[in-house]
Amino acid sequence: MQTEWKHTTVLLNEAVDALLQHPDDAPDQPLDGAYVDATFGRGGHSRLILSRLSPAGRLTAFDKDLEAIAEAGAIADARFSIRHQGFRHLGELPAGSVAGVLMDLGISSPQIDNPARGFSFRGDGPLDMRMDTTRGESVAQWLADADVDSIAEVIRDYGEERFAGQIAKAIVARRQERGAISSTAELAQLVADTVKTREPGQNPATRTFQAFRIFINAELEELQQALEASLDVLQAGGRLVVISFHSLEDRIVKQFIAAHSREVYDRRAPFAQPKAMKLKSLDRIKPSAAEVAANPRSRSAIMRVAQRTAA
Ligand SMILES: C[S@@+](CC[C@H](N)C(=O)[O-])C[C@H]1O[C@@H](n2cnc3c(N)ncnc32)[C@H](O)[C@@H]1O
Repeated sequence: MQTEWKHTTVLLNEAVDALLQHPDDAPDQPLDGAYVDATFGRGGHSRLILSRLSPAGRLTAFDKDLEAIAEAGAIADARFSIRHQGFRHLGELPAGSVAGVLMDLGISSPQIDNPARGFSFRGDGPLDMRMDTTRGESVAQWLADADVDSIAEVIRDYGEERFAGQIAKAIVARRQERGAISSTAELAQLVADTVKTREPGQNPATRTFQAFRIFINAELEELQQALEASLDVLQAGGRLVVISFHSLEDRIVKQFIAAHSREVYDRRAPFAQPKAMKLKSLDRIKPSAAEVAANPRSRSAIMRVAQRTAA
């Protein structure tokens, strides 16, 4: 099954160029440092990073998904290791030991395209949506017990859906009448029957599916924790490169970099030295028109690049 679902890596060269700092006078010189690919997926970024490291270089990758972990098993390279963990665990690496952290957020094409994973309103499958199917609750299990206010809050906060209240009520009413929703097609139909207006070109269930996926995988909490952890593990001069695919993610990354890119003054101690900034914001890059034409899933990508300062 591994070969059936393919992933086209987004911003492949741009991300790896931003992560790896080859000397200006020796741009082809392999690098010795230790790097982190926090989101291995199908290894597009990882393979290119490895091709640019010296025998002394190291790459530690993370992924929550067992299929990604299986794919990583095909990389027979002593410089490479993969961890089946959420990427917040990157904070367990030794402090100041890492020359670059890459995060290519969200889900991979194999996850969304395989109906059995339950991420998509196209096709029918079990309403699961977990990246890590070895732990935690599926969306169906959560919806079987959750109260209407919690469901509405998730759809509103993570889907920015105007009809969150109506959709949540419809989910609970349907549960009381006919039992809990267990399939993606059932959820997509229920949302389509409930949401009155449609955004042009968008399936009415898009926002609800996004919301449930973010919630069930604790995506935003884990992102915040991983960003904080990256400050500890990055060495001075090390790079933080994050590709996000929707505004909720990008807002967290943008605010995190901004918050650590200025000196912080303590108002209660106006004459004390300000706390030094920990990051320098370097770049914000979007896929080229050619990339978007070749891979429409890249269209919403925004990559932010920052550098760890010596503080
Ligand atoms: C967009 S794909 C990465 C694709 C990869 N860069 C490539 O070129 O093949 C995102 C991957 O990150 C994983 N992922 C997302 N959030 C994660 C988290 N918090 N911890 C670990 N893995 C995560 C997903 O399971 C998925 O495989």
